[in-house]
Amino acid sequence: MSLNEELIRLVKDGLKHSYAPYSGVRVSALAITPEGRVYRGVNVENASLGLSVCAERVAIFNAVTNGERRIKTVVITSNLDRPIYPCGACLQVMQEFGVEEVVIVHGDEVIRHKLKDLLPMPFTWEGRR
Ligand code: THU
Repeated sequence: MSLNEELIRLVKDGLKHSYAPYSGVRVSALAITPEGRVYRGVNVENASLGLSVCAERVAIFNAVTNGERRIKTVVITSNLDRPIYPCGACLQVMQEFGVEEVVIVHGDEVIRHKLKDLLPMPFTWEGRR
């Protein structure tokens, strides 16, 4: 199944806005709602390195800030020479908002994973999901 060309263009376009002067790893993400609304995010680093935030969380928090509570798909890309996989913290944040699918774009490659395959035993408050 091919990811909409426009979404691929959009996530790649975001790389230019990444703020990564320390690692040099530019990351761009889209958070897409079940209705198809799209929110962008990039990684934002800091001289105090531990304060850096991943692109996926910025995209999801951007969506939430705009009133969204459900995210269906997260799309990510980076300037690495291999597909970028989300960190564990971002997977947990995806879980919070019901993300079903994580789509990794690398050049012409589009790799799809179910969130439940990447994070099979998430922490949940009720401990019942
Ligand atoms: N980064 C992301 O934005 N997303 C990921 O999935 C992994 C890592 C960022 C954080 C940091 O700015 C840089 O990549 C290197 O770790």
